[in-house]
Amino acid sequence: MLKIKGRKSTVEDAIGSKGGKVTVKGWIYRKRSSGGKIFAVIHDHTGLMQCVIDKSAVNESEWGSIEKAYLESSIAVEGTTRADPRAPNGVELDVSALEVLHSGEQFPITEYQSAEFLLDTRHLWLRSQRMRMIMRARSYTFKYVREFLDRQGFFEITPPLLTVSGGESGANLFEVEYFGSKIYLTESSQLYAEAMVYSLEKVYSLAPSFRAEKSRTTKHLAEYWHLEPEMAHFDNKMNMRLQERLVSHVANSLAKRNEKVLRALDVDPDSLLKIRPPFKRITYDQAIEKLGELGSSKKWGEDFGVEEEKLLTEHEEKPIFVYNWPKEIKAFYMPVNKKDPRTVACSDMLAPRGHGEIIGGSERIWKEEELVSRMKELNFNIDNYKWYIDLRKYGSVPHAGFGLGMERIIKWMLNLDHIRDAIPFPRMVNRSYP
Ligand code: 4AD
Ligand code: MG
Repeated sequence: MLKIKGRKSTVEDAIGSKGGKVTVKGWIYRKRSSGGKIFAVIHDHTGLMQCVIDKSAVNESEWGSIEKAYLESSIAVEGTTRADPRAPNGVELDVSALEVLHSGEQFPITEYQSAEFLLDTRHLWLRSQRMRMIMRARSYTFKYVREFLDRQGFFEITPPLLTVSGGESGANLFEVEYFGSKIYLTESSQLYAEAMVYSLEKVYSLAPSFRAEKSRTTKHLAEYWHLEPEMAHFDNKMNMRLQERLVSHVANSLAKRNEKVLRALDVDPDSLLKIRPPFKRITYDQAIEKLGELGSSKKWGEDFGVEEEKLLTEHEEKPIFVYNWPKEIKAFYMPVNKKDPRTVACSDMLAPRGHGEIIGGSERIWKEEELVSRMKELNFNIDNYKWYIDLRKYGSVPHAGFGLGMERIIKWMLNLDHIRDAIPFPRMVNRSYP
């Protein structure tokens, strides 16, 4: 049992208490001693506070334990707060009692460490100020997407992650041994969301997607969190409108409700407040033309890579849509545009400043014949998709949806160099530990 029994305040509340008597529980962030005093900065999930431990104000065993404690030793302190402009956050705590809960061992992470070492010790590095702030922003981002969709009358659904066939190209599936047969980790929950649209009309899933992509880029994970809304009676225009409102809600909410977290990460909240509908919309044709003007040699029919995404967005403040892409480079379920049958009714949302594609969405083929003929064209194993085709046999309706990469949008909003920092335990080509 702990000796210190006062009701626990967070560091943030303690700082706000102005002269109050408080009990705080946290970890040692920094420690130095001078003239019979130990100055220990402690952190909890809310922030940092300097504690002053005067040798004469605590008993001998308390003093001995704080002298011996390491960085990241866990600690409980009791004391009175006092304003001090020199302290981080402008408040110090004069400690009257303390208890080192676990002194432990010397913390292995010191100031200058390689990126590789920090990934190997990810389970500990998550305690750093920077990772803590990113993980808070991540949690808020999850909250705000759910909040927005909930207010729009969506139901959250939970798709299976083990599937017999791919929902996208199928080229990047992870195989799983399943009671003697082979199945796959899902690369998208879209097909299941489509099934549920016929039941609940507006649904979304927020679940992991797995991609066995060998790409070693700063925006590819092998396991990422995928938000996939799907809506009955939506066309591509309505789809884009919903996407820009959703992304704006998340960016604006972070700016308004989590300003401190953003500032701690050197993100200007104003840059996120500016994210408001409408976003610029250009067709794939216009994008190709613009790329040509900017010196790119991309030909009509080719997909865009990092280079093209950057050329199109480096001077943008808000995301942009590129819509109506060539049929050949998009998924089997997208319907062709009547006005230009070389293209399909879809859109990608590209983040500003070269952060790349954050959303891919489209209308879905909702007529059985059209779907089957497209699948045959692409040599699909129709047997695996019987249930999906079945959906188009009974009271089918037009519908549309999209997939948003949660780590992609976090990387863009927080201006992170690498997507791996947007997720606690990244899975990439060369990393699956810890
Ligand atoms: O464009 P994608 O492949 O589209 C789909 O999977 C559709 N079935 C979605 C739908 O309409 N329901 O992926 C959608 C988004 C991308 O725009 C990107 O943000 C993210 O998923 N994404 C990745 N994020 C991290 N690592 C990867 N390897 C990703 N691949 C896609
Ligand atoms: Mg895509």
